[in-house]
Amino acid sequence: MSTLPTVQIPQDASRLPMTLPRLTEKKDLGEPIVMVTAYDYPSALAVDTAGVDLVLVGDSGAMTVLGYDSTVPVELDELLMLAKAVRRGLKIPLQIGDLPFGSYEVSDEQAVQTAFRFVKEAGCDAVKLEGGGETSVARARAISNAGIAVMGHVGLTPQTATVLGGYRAQGRNAEAAARVKREALALQEAGCFAIVFEAIPSAVAEAIMPEMNIPVIGIGAGPATDGQVLVFHDLLGIREGRGAKFVKRYADLLDEMIAGVAAYADDVRARRYPGPEHGYSIPPEELERFRGAAIGGPAREA
Ligand code: KIV
Repeated sequence: MSTLPTVQIPQDASRLPMTLPRLTEKKDLGEPIVMVTAYDYPSALAVDTAGVDLVLVGDSGAMTVLGYDSTVPVELDELLMLAKAVRRGLKIPLQIGDLPFGSYEVSDEQAVQTAFRFVKEAGCDAVKLEGGGETSVARARAISNAGIAVMGHVGLTPQTATVLGGYRAQGRNAEAAARVKREALALQEAGCFAIVFEAIPSAVAEAIMPEMNIPVIGIGAGPATDGQVLVFHDLLGIREGRGAKFVKRYADLLDEMIAGVAAYADDVRARRYPGPEHGYSIPPEELERFRGAAIGGPAREA
């Protein structure tokens, strides 16, 4: 069992639904913004009850819940189904749908249509797209102009990890750091309401922060950003292996899940489960009547 510190969970009554103005207010007040991913109804219930601010239905769900070996193959309809399930469990945080690879790059029209599907069909409050090159900036602008809140994502962008040279930190020399900064500023100018900085040196994030007017959420970008995001399955240990360097693990749920199912299997095989407390009773006289009744006769309701 993990030994977690006791934490104060904000009560519903004192919590207001997260909105874009409230998010900006948090940045202005210097209040850290908490973002996490979720992919289904129970994870949505957990993160809502725990009191997070932003919930991303990340395309990381391709790997964490659908078992693909990268985020590239996941289909739009698959992510929409996950986003709908999250919506049913989420009340307070802002829900952001991640546009999957291939669902927004082709044209502004394609990007806007995909964003509309996340909002209209899945009930997302906002969408996120990856990259800060010309194409992504144009798509972010088109989505924002269509009236949908859009979040940017620079640094390590897993959908295009191949062209970035693999899953590795970005911005680790002056030119690469300048590129991250250029892209972040371009997305901000295009109308993004917030942006993710993924896997960049802490000092680079810190140097860019004074120029960011929109909330910046870091993942492997150090402590200078306005908030942090982690993948649900990484922080709770519902995975094999430890994951990226920036992950801090707060539980080992996969171990607990395996132990729980193994104990159940053991109980069934040893006939310890079900016990008398797990069964239903019938009044003795009814049982007597049943036993004495004609066997094999037509079933009749009492
Ligand atoms: O898909 C995802 O989980 C993400 C976060 C890591 C920001 O994009």
